[in-house]
Amino acid sequence: MVKKITLNSLASMKHSGEKITMITAYDATMANIASNNGIDILLVGDSLGMVCQGESSTVPVTIEEMCYHTRCVSKASNDAMVLSDLPFGSCATEEQTILNAIKLMRAGAEIVKLEGDRWLAPVITRLKQQGIPTCVHMGLTPQSVNVFGGYKVQGRDLEQANSMIASAIELEAAGAAMLVLECIPVTLAKDVTRSVSIPVVGIGAGPHTDGQVLVIYDMLNLTAGKLPRFVKNYMANAHTPQEAIRLYADEVRTCRFPALEHCFE
Ligand code: KIV
Repeated sequence: MVKKITLNSLASMKHSGEKITMITAYDATMANIASNNGIDILLVGDSLGMVCQGESSTVPVTIEEMCYHTRCVSKASNDAMVLSDLPFGSCATEEQTILNAIKLMRAGAEIVKLEGDRWLAPVITRLKQQGIPTCVHMGLTPQSVNVFGGYKVQGRDLEQANSMIASAIELEAAGAAMLVLECIPVTLAKDVTRSVSIPVVGIGAGPHTDGQVLVIYDMLNLTAGKLPRFVKNYMANAHTPQEAIRLYADEVRTCRFPALEHCFE
Protein backbone atom coordinates (compact mmCIF):
# COMPACT_ATOMS: atom_id res chain seq x y z
CA MET A 1 0.00 0.00 0.00
CA VAL A 2 1.31 3.47 -0.88
CA LYS A 3 1.46 5.71 2.19
CA LYS A 4 0.88 9.45 2.39
CA ILE A 5 4.22 11.28 2.30
CA THR A 6 4.77 13.36 5.44
CA LEU A 7 7.76 15.10 7.00
CA ASN A 8 8.24 11.93 9.07
CA SER A 9 8.46 9.77 5.92
CA LEU A 10 11.00 12.19 4.44
CA ALA A 11 13.08 12.13 7.64
CA SER A 12 13.19 8.34 7.62
CA MET A 13 14.10 8.36 3.91
CA LYS A 14 17.06 10.61 4.70
CA HIS A 15 18.00 8.34 7.59
CA SER A 16 17.84 5.14 5.50
CA GLY A 17 19.45 6.67 2.37
CA GLU A 18 16.32 6.21 0.22
CA LYS A 19 16.30 9.03 -2.35
CA ILE A 20 13.43 11.57 -2.42
CA THR A 21 11.74 12.30 -5.76
CA MET A 22 10.34 15.77 -6.41
CA ILE A 23 8.95 17.39 -9.55
CA THR A 24 7.10 20.64 -10.23
CA ALA A 25 3.36 20.56 -10.91
CA TYR A 26 1.08 23.47 -11.66
CA ASP A 27 -2.28 21.83 -12.43
CA ALA A 28 -4.44 18.87 -11.42
CA THR A 29 -3.70 16.71 -14.48
CA MET A 30 0.08 16.83 -14.04
CA ALA A 31 -0.27 16.48 -10.25
CA ASN A 32 -2.31 13.32 -10.73
CA ILE A 33 0.12 11.84 -13.27
CA ALA A 34 3.20 12.66 -11.17
CA SER A 35 1.79 11.49 -7.86
CA ASN A 36 0.68 8.20 -9.44
CA ASN A 37 4.06 7.54 -11.01
CA GLY A 38 6.57 7.54 -8.19
CA ILE A 39 6.85 11.19 -7.13
CA ASP A 40 7.07 11.94 -3.40
CA ILE A 41 6.79 15.75 -3.48
CA LEU A 42 4.90 18.00 -5.91
CA LEU A 43 6.49 21.44 -6.01
CA VAL A 44 4.10 24.21 -7.02
CA GLY A 45 7.08 26.27 -8.12
CA ASP A 46 7.05 29.92 -9.06
CA SER A 47 8.78 28.65 -12.22
CA LEU A 48 5.15 28.64 -13.40
CA GLY A 49 5.81 32.29 -14.24
CA MET A 50 8.13 31.14 -17.01
CA VAL A 51 6.60 27.84 -18.16
CA CYS A 52 2.87 28.67 -17.77
CA GLN A 53 2.73 32.45 -18.04
CA GLY A 54 5.51 33.04 -20.58
CA GLU A 55 7.39 35.51 -18.37
CA SER A 56 11.17 35.78 -18.63
CA SER A 57 11.72 35.25 -14.87
CA THR A 58 9.79 34.28 -11.72
CA VAL A 59 9.68 37.91 -10.54
CA PRO A 60 6.16 38.81 -11.84
CA VAL A 61 4.42 35.85 -10.07
CA THR A 62 1.98 36.89 -7.30
CA ILE A 63 0.79 35.17 -4.13
CA GLU A 64 -2.75 35.00 -5.59
CA GLU A 65 -1.42 33.09 -8.62
CA MET A 66 0.55 30.73 -6.35
CA CYS A 67 -2.62 30.07 -4.30
CA TYR A 68 -4.61 29.34 -7.47
CA HIS A 69 -2.08 26.77 -8.74
CA THR A 70 -1.62 25.28 -5.25
CA ARG A 71 -5.37 24.68 -5.06
CA CYS A 72 -5.33 22.97 -8.50
CA VAL A 73 -2.40 20.72 -7.54
CA SER A 74 -3.57 19.83 -4.05
CA LYS A 75 -6.87 18.46 -5.35
CA ALA A 76 -5.01 15.78 -7.35
CA SER A 77 -1.91 15.21 -5.21
CA ASN A 78 -2.98 11.76 -3.97
CA ASP A 79 -0.28 10.58 -1.51
CA ALA A 80 2.40 13.06 -2.58
CA MET A 81 3.30 16.04 -0.39
CA VAL A 82 2.46 19.51 -1.75
CA LEU A 83 5.21 22.12 -1.41
CA SER A 84 4.42 25.68 -2.59
CA ASP A 85 6.65 28.65 -3.28
CA LEU A 86 6.31 31.99 -1.55
CA PRO A 87 6.85 34.21 -4.63
CA PHE A 88 9.00 37.32 -5.14
CA GLY A 89 7.97 40.19 -2.87
CA SER A 90 5.75 38.06 -0.62
CA CYS A 91 8.34 37.91 2.20
CA ALA A 92 9.31 41.58 2.51
CA THR A 93 8.55 41.56 6.26
CA GLU A 94 8.06 38.74 8.81
CA GLU A 95 4.38 39.61 9.20
CA GLN A 96 3.84 39.56 5.44
CA THR A 97 5.67 36.23 5.16
CA ILE A 98 3.46 34.63 7.80
CA LEU A 99 0.21 35.96 6.31
CA ASN A 100 1.21 34.81 2.81
CA ALA A 101 2.31 31.38 4.07
CA ILE A 102 -1.10 31.01 5.74
CA LYS A 103 -2.73 31.77 2.35
CA LEU A 104 -0.70 28.99 0.69
CA MET A 105 -1.50 26.50 3.48
CA ARG A 106 -5.22 27.35 3.20
CA ALA A 107 -4.96 26.72 -0.57
CA GLY A 108 -3.63 23.20 0.08
CA ALA A 109 0.14 23.48 0.61
CA GLU A 110 1.58 21.20 3.27
CA ILE A 111 4.92 23.01 3.41
CA VAL A 112 6.10 26.35 1.97
CA LYS A 113 9.39 27.22 0.27
CA LEU A 114 11.27 30.52 0.74
CA GLU A 115 14.37 31.66 -1.11
CA GLY A 116 17.26 32.93 1.00
CA ASP A 117 19.69 31.86 3.68
CA ARG A 118 20.47 32.37 7.39
CA TRP A 119 18.65 35.73 7.54
CA LEU A 120 15.42 33.74 7.24
CA ALA A 121 16.04 31.93 10.58
CA PRO A 122 13.76 34.12 12.78
CA VAL A 123 10.76 33.87 10.43
CA ILE A 124 11.31 30.11 9.99
CA THR A 125 10.91 29.73 13.77
CA ARG A 126 7.77 31.85 13.80
CA LEU A 127 6.25 29.94 10.88
CA LYS A 128 6.88 26.63 12.66
CA GLN A 129 5.18 28.04 15.78
CA GLN A 130 2.17 28.79 13.56
CA GLY A 131 2.10 25.18 12.28
CA ILE A 132 3.75 25.96 8.95
CA PRO A 133 6.71 23.78 7.93
CA THR A 134 9.34 25.39 5.71
CA CYS A 135 11.79 24.47 2.99
CA VAL A 136 14.60 26.96 2.32
CA HIS A 137 15.86 27.30 -1.27
CA MET A 138 19.59 28.19 -1.34
CA GLY A 139 22.31 28.56 -3.97
CA LEU A 140 20.95 29.96 -7.22
CA THR A 141 17.73 31.54 -5.99
CA PRO A 142 15.89 32.59 -9.18
CA GLN A 143 13.95 35.42 -7.49
CA SER A 144 17.34 37.18 -7.09
CA VAL A 145 18.30 36.85 -10.77
CA ASN A 146 18.56 40.64 -11.04
CA VAL A 147 21.01 40.74 -8.13
CA PHE A 148 23.08 37.83 -9.48
CA GLY A 149 23.14 39.35 -12.99
CA GLY A 150 21.91 36.12 -14.59
CA TYR A 151 21.40 32.43 -13.81
CA LYS A 152 24.89 31.53 -12.56
CA VAL A 153 26.34 28.67 -10.51
CA GLN A 154 26.67 29.78 -6.86
CA GLY A 155 29.03 28.76 -4.04
CA ARG A 156 32.17 28.38 -6.09
CA ASP A 157 34.36 30.52 -3.81
CA LEU A 158 35.35 29.26 -0.37
CA GLU A 159 33.72 32.10 1.57
CA GLN A 160 30.37 31.61 -0.15
CA ALA A 161 30.61 27.83 0.28
CA ASN A 162 31.36 28.07 4.02
CA SER A 163 28.57 30.58 4.48
CA MET A 164 26.11 28.20 2.76
CA ILE A 165 27.05 25.35 5.09
CA ALA A 166 26.75 27.61 8.15
CA SER A 167 23.36 28.88 6.90
CA ALA A 168 22.06 25.33 6.47
CA ILE A 169 23.02 24.47 10.05
CA GLU A 170 21.42 27.67 11.41
CA LEU A 171 18.24 27.13 9.40
CA GLU A 172 17.86 23.58 10.69
CA ALA A 173 18.35 24.86 14.26
CA ALA A 174 15.69 27.54 13.58
CA GLY A 175 13.20 24.82 12.59
CA ALA A 176 13.43 24.46 8.79
CA ALA A 177 12.07 21.09 7.68
CA MET A 178 13.88 20.78 4.35
CA LEU A 179 16.36 22.48 2.02
CA VAL A 180 16.51 22.84 -1.77
CA LEU A 181 19.93 23.51 -3.30
CA GLU A 182 20.06 24.88 -6.84
CA CYS A 183 23.09 25.10 -9.16
CA ILE A 184 25.99 24.64 -6.79
CA PRO A 185 29.13 22.50 -7.10
CA VAL A 186 28.77 18.77 -6.36
CA THR A 187 31.20 18.80 -3.41
CA LEU A 188 29.49 21.75 -1.72
CA ALA A 189 26.07 20.08 -2.08
CA LYS A 190 27.54 16.94 -0.53
CA ASP A 191 28.97 18.95 2.41
CA VAL A 192 25.67 20.80 3.02
CA THR A 193 23.71 17.52 2.87
CA ARG A 194 26.03 15.91 5.42
CA SER A 195 25.96 18.94 7.73
CA VAL A 196 22.24 18.73 8.48
CA SER A 197 19.81 16.02 9.53
CA ILE A 198 16.87 17.50 7.55
CA PRO A 199 16.30 16.31 3.93
CA VAL A 200 18.16 18.20 1.20
CA VAL A 201 16.83 18.09 -2.37
CA GLY A 202 19.00 19.25 -5.27
CA ILE A 203 18.58 20.66 -8.77
CA GLY A 204 21.89 21.06 -10.57
CA ALA A 205 23.57 20.14 -7.28
CA GLY A 206 24.89 16.68 -8.08
CA PRO A 207 24.12 13.15 -6.93
CA HIS A 208 24.87 13.39 -3.18
CA THR A 209 21.78 15.28 -2.02
CA ASP A 210 18.94 13.31 -0.39
CA GLY A 211 16.71 13.78 -3.43
CA GLN A 212 16.27 15.51 -6.79
CA VAL A 213 13.83 17.97 -8.32
CA LEU A 214 13.23 18.99 -11.95
CA VAL A 215 10.77 21.30 -13.67
CA ILE A 216 8.19 18.95 -15.23
CA TYR A 217 8.03 20.68 -18.63
CA ASP A 218 11.84 20.58 -18.89
CA MET A 219 12.14 16.83 -18.27
CA LEU A 220 9.19 16.15 -20.61
CA ASN A 221 11.07 18.12 -23.30
CA LEU A 222 8.20 20.61 -23.67
CA THR A 223 10.11 23.78 -22.72
CA ALA A 224 11.10 26.02 -25.64
CA GLY A 225 14.69 27.17 -26.00
CA LYS A 226 17.97 26.01 -24.52
CA LEU A 227 17.66 23.98 -21.33
CA PRO A 228 20.05 24.19 -18.38
CA ARG A 229 22.83 21.58 -18.17
CA PHE A 230 21.18 19.83 -15.19
CA VAL A 231 18.02 18.85 -17.14
CA LYS A 232 17.58 15.41 -18.67
CA ASN A 233 15.02 14.79 -21.41
CA TYR A 234 13.09 11.75 -20.12
CA MET A 235 10.83 11.64 -23.20
CA ALA A 236 13.85 10.45 -25.20
CA ASN A 237 13.27 6.95 -23.79
CA ALA A 238 9.55 7.02 -23.04
CA HIS A 239 6.32 6.84 -25.03
CA THR A 240 4.16 8.80 -22.57
CA PRO A 241 4.61 11.46 -19.86
CA GLN A 242 3.62 8.79 -17.31
CA GLU A 243 6.45 6.54 -18.47
CA ALA A 244 8.93 9.46 -18.50
CA ILE A 245 8.07 10.42 -14.93
CA ARG A 246 8.34 6.77 -13.78
CA LEU A 247 11.76 6.58 -15.43
CA TYR A 248 12.90 9.79 -13.72
CA ALA A 249 11.71 8.54 -10.30
CA ASP A 250 13.44 5.22 -10.87
CA GLU A 251 16.71 6.84 -11.96
CA VAL A 252 16.69 9.14 -8.92
CA ARG A 253 16.01 6.22 -6.56
CA THR A 254 18.76 4.10 -8.10
CA CYS A 255 21.24 7.04 -8.22
CA ARG A 256 21.46 6.98 -12.05
CA PHE A 257 20.28 10.60 -12.21
CA PRO A 258 21.99 13.04 -12.10
CA ALA A 259 25.01 11.84 -14.10
CA LEU A 260 28.28 13.74 -14.38
CA GLU A 261 27.05 15.64 -17.46
CA HIS A 262 24.24 17.22 -15.35
CA CYS A 263 26.57 18.49 -12.61
CA PHE A 264 28.75 21.53 -11.87
CA GLU A 265 32.28 21.55 -10.43
O1 KIV B 1 10.05 27.15 -8.97
C1 KIV B 1 10.71 26.13 -9.17
O2 KIV B 1 10.49 25.37 -10.13
C2 KIV B 1 11.79 25.82 -8.25
C3 KIV B 1 12.73 24.71 -8.64
C4 KIV B 1 13.73 25.23 -9.60
C5 KIV B 1 13.40 24.10 -7.45
O3 KIV B 1 11.94 26.45 -7.25
